[in-house]
Amino acid sequence: MSLLKWGMINQLWRLLRAEVALHKHNKVNRQGVVSANAQHYHVIENVLPHHIYEGLLDAVSELHAQAVRENSHWRKGMAIGGHELNSSTVKPWLEYFSGDEFIQRLRMATGIETLALVPAVDTHRLSLLFYDAPKGTEEIGDGTDWHMDGNIYLGARWAGILTLIEDTLDTTSKLELQPFGDVAQIPKRNLRNSLVLFQGDHVLHRVRPLISDERRVVMSLLFSDWPIRTRNPWLRRYQSDVNRAFYGNPQA
Ligand SMILES: [Fe+2]
Repeated sequence: MSLLKWGMINQLWRLLRAEVALHKHNKVNRQGVVSANAQHYHVIENVLPHHIYEGLLDAVSELHAQAVRENSHWRKGMAIGGHELNSSTVKPWLEYFSGDEFIQRLRMATGIETLALVPAVDTHRLSLLFYDAPKGTEEIGDGTDWHMDGNIYLGARWAGILTLIEDTLDTTSKLELQPFGDVAQIPKRNLRNSLVLFQGDHVLHRVRPLISDERRVVMSLLFSDWPIRTRNPWLRRYQSDVNRAFYGNPQA
C-alpha cells in the first residue's frame, strides 16, 4: 500500500476516534465526568492594543443604543451573534481578531501551539453579550446558572470571555468558574481588556446576576486546538437549537 493511502487511512482513523470520543464526552460531561487535564484556565491581561479596545468600546456603545431602540433581532439577554456582528458598526474592529498578532499572543500565553479561532461560519466564533438590569427590574443574569457547555469540535474547545466593560459593585468578575469543583473568582483589577480562556465543556461556569445600575459588556470568543466540526447530525442539531435560543439565528 502506498504511503499516501496509509496517510489517508490514518487520518480517517483519527477523525473516527475523535468523533466517538466527542460523542461520549457530550453525553457525560453534564454529569460531571470531565477531564482533569482540562481544568486549567488562563487570564490574559491587556489582550488588545489600546486603540482597538477603545474603538470597540465606542462601537459597542453605539450598538447598545441601537439595540434598545430597535429591539427586533435581540433576545432578552442581549446577545448578538457573529454573523450579525460582522454586518454591524463593530466590523472594522473585528479584523484584529483574525490577524497573526492576536493568535500568536494567545498561543504564547497558553502554550497551545495550534490554538485557533473556530471557522467564521460558526456564529460563536466572535459574539457580543450585554448584561444590564433593565429599569424597573431587580437583577438580571444571562439566564444560565452553573452549567457546562457542549462541544461540536473534534479538538479541545476553549471559550474566551473578553471583558469590555464591567461596571459593578463587586470586587470580582461576575464570571465564575469551578475548576476541579472549587469556585474560582477572578479579581476585577485589570479585568477590562482581559481575556479569560477556559474549557467550558469541562469546567462548570456561570455569570452572577447584575443588580440595578450595574453593567457588563463582553465579547465571547471560541477557539479550538483542532477546529474541525463534528459530522454527527445530532450534535449539529443541538448546536442549532442553542444558536436559535441565544442569537435568534440557527445558523452554526
Ligand atoms: Fe457557557
